[in-house]
Amino acid sequence: MSKRIKIGLIGCGMISGSHINGYLAHPQHAEIVAICDTVEANVNRRHAEALSGAASRAESATAEAGKADTSEVREQLQADAALWAEYANNGVKIFSDYNEMLRECDLDAVSLALPPFVHEAATLAAAKAGKHVFCEKPMARTATEARNMRDACAEAGVKLAYQSGGTCLDPTSYAIRDYVTSGKIGDVYYGRLTSYRVRGRPNVDMFGYGRWFLNSAFSGGGTIYDTGVYLINRSLYLLGSPQPATISGIAYRGMLPEYTGDEINDVEEHASVFVRFTNGMSFTFENGWSSNMAGQPQGIFIFGSKGSFSDDKLFLEGGTWDTQGDRRRYQGNLVETPLEVPDRNFPDKFRDFLDACNSDAQPVSNGDIGLNVTEIMSGALLSAKLGREVSVEELYEIEALRSEPVPGWPIP
Ligand SMILES: NC(=O)c1ccc[n+]([C@@H]2O[C@H](COP(=O)([O-])OP(=O)(O)OC[C@H]3O[C@@H](n4cnc5c(N)ncnc54)[C@H](O)[C@@H]3O)[C@@H](O)[C@H]2O)c1
Repeated sequence: MSKRIKIGLIGCGMISGSHINGYLAHPQHAEIVAICDTVEANVNRRHAEALSGAASRAESATAEAGKADTSEVREQLQADAALWAEYANNGVKIFSDYNEMLRECDLDAVSLALPPFVHEAATLAAAKAGKHVFCEKPMARTATEARNMRDACAEAGVKLAYQSGGTCLDPTSYAIRDYVTSGKIGDVYYGRLTSYRVRGRPNVDMFGYGRWFLNSAFSGGGTIYDTGVYLINRSLYLLGSPQPATISGIAYRGMLPEYTGDEINDVEEHASVFVRFTNGMSFTFENGWSSNMAGQPQGIFIFGSKGSFSDDKLFLEGGTWDTQGDRRRYQGNLVETPLEVPDRNFPDKFRDFLDACNSDAQPVSNGDIGLNVTEIMSGALLSAKLGREVSVEELYEIEALRSEPVPGWPIP
């Protein structure tokens, strides 16, 4: 029987509602016992939402239990309803300082819905206190911060999961990774990802985002760190978690209309990046918050010597030899082939984290893969700044040379 993981939620801004709903969806496995934000109005709003969310779930589950077809389903709904009701009545403690929360609460884990500039400090504090960590994406602003987080959690023996791993937790992703790593599409030598928005810059084209999004010292970067991070994470997972060796990137800002707000805006709106991995594979990605590109295919494309994936569609090569007299030629033929996917349920990202907290398993999106994603993101912007390829080793050396403010690689 797995333990109910006691969660402390840190950060009660825009995305924190998804953490509350994410844990409330698993009443047998998690309970949010404390909630923290430096802004009183934010913590009060999410506190009220956590309690009312639990109360309304208890009510619905009780009503559904009355209509259940089998005793098994009825008992499950009644058990869930009891946990939600107990939770709604017990309340949730409120804090403005996460160190105080870590000291005073009997927590198993923290869930960080904080901006990137707080991820490292909060993770290190939680690891020191022996708590597992679920961190929002991007994991960190720099590779050094991500490495510190990964190492602190590993040394403390606690799990580190991060949010963009949700893109890997489905039967299709699992099956593609299996085809790639088992050799079913041959020698996989290259991957490509493209993702563009027409106009999707936080606080330029979209309302209501934190003021930190456009400021590299707080966010780490722009489009790569905000949206690219999801697909880089999924690409690395699908490719079997190769280790980045060198990174070459260009970054651009200047899409019209120009930004007219009063926040600092020094982040990239488009990036094109080329990565070489230590196992000989390579990978390109293009990612834009804002573009005037239409009709260009978007998705993840994987090239193997026997087949390929074109945005989740499997193509196997089934060509034939043609003979004319004493000459032969090969006629290639790509056959779209149904993907064999596992017949089982996949956990969502919160349940994946909770299961890892209760076992020896690592979350699917763990600190190691988060570190590789951050090396690629941070390396891409460093390379763009220097105008040349950088190795991962050099990335760490250069990051170590930086004076305050440490994070971010603003583009001119
Ligand atoms: N907004 C989105 O659509 C979205 C989507 C997916 C992921 N994310 C990620 O989630 C994270 C948070 O984003 P957001 O949009 O919710 O940001 P936000 O600015 O809306 O909220 C952040 C909250 O953290 C609080 N905070 C800051 N420093 C703190 C500290 N030291 N202690 C306690 N609280 C502190 C702030 O007061 C604020 O309430 C980011 O990493 C972001 O990339 C955001």
